Amino acid sequence: MSKQQKHAGIPADLGLDFVENWVKQRLSEKRYRHCQGVVTVARQLAPLAPCDLFLAELSAWLHDACKEVKDSELIKRAQKAKLKLHPVERLHGHVLHGPVAALTARKELGIRNQDVLDAISQHTLGHAPMSALSKTVFLADCLEASRPADYTTPIWEALDLGGRNCLDAAVLTALNLGLSSLINSNKPIHPKTIDVRNYYLVQLGDAGR
Ligand SMILES: [Fe+2]
Ligand SMILES: [Fe+2]
Repeated sequence: MSKQQKHAGIPADLGLDFVENWVKQRLSEKRYRHCQGVVTVARQLAPLAPCDLFLAELSAWLHDACKEVKDSELIKRAQKAKLKLHPVERLHGHVLHGPVAALTARKELGIRNQDVLDAISQHTLGHAPMSALSKTVFLADCLEASRPADYTTPIWEALDLGGRNCLDAAVLTALNLGLSSLINSNKPIHPKTIDVRNYYLVQLGDAGR
């Protein structure tokens, strides 16, 4: 486990053991195990991104801290914080669990590091662009060990190609797979995910090929 040294916007006494316990109290055993798995992958991806290992672990622990909060409560908390809600978010409040977790981490743990708050907030829909830390948490969430192999294998393959853009390629692969799955299961798509997907497509120079 990486140590808290000095990180801007992170309380000096906030350690990963404390954060792990804080998260554990808010989640079912299954979801806690998921977070543990995301932390494991985040540690693996951080040197590749590259991003700070402690911040990657911290963000990974916190990303789903509000995953088990009811949709109506997520909407209420987002509205209270004056977040601008898209109609898809009003209908499917669970997509707000990232932004609400960021608000909660700020309020209850005193985290002011914007890169960490963004990584937590952006882990579900992605963002255009994402920092190295946000991409690490986004991909670690996709690659957690309990995810099905037909989803994770193409993402790992994109990463295994290496090179400067391999994280972007992996993000694009994950977004394409996620969007296909939403279409196949007849679920709503948040337009932000499409914008993010198109952004990475253009970044990688694949658009129109
Ligand atoms: Fe999540
Ligand atoms: Fe997650």
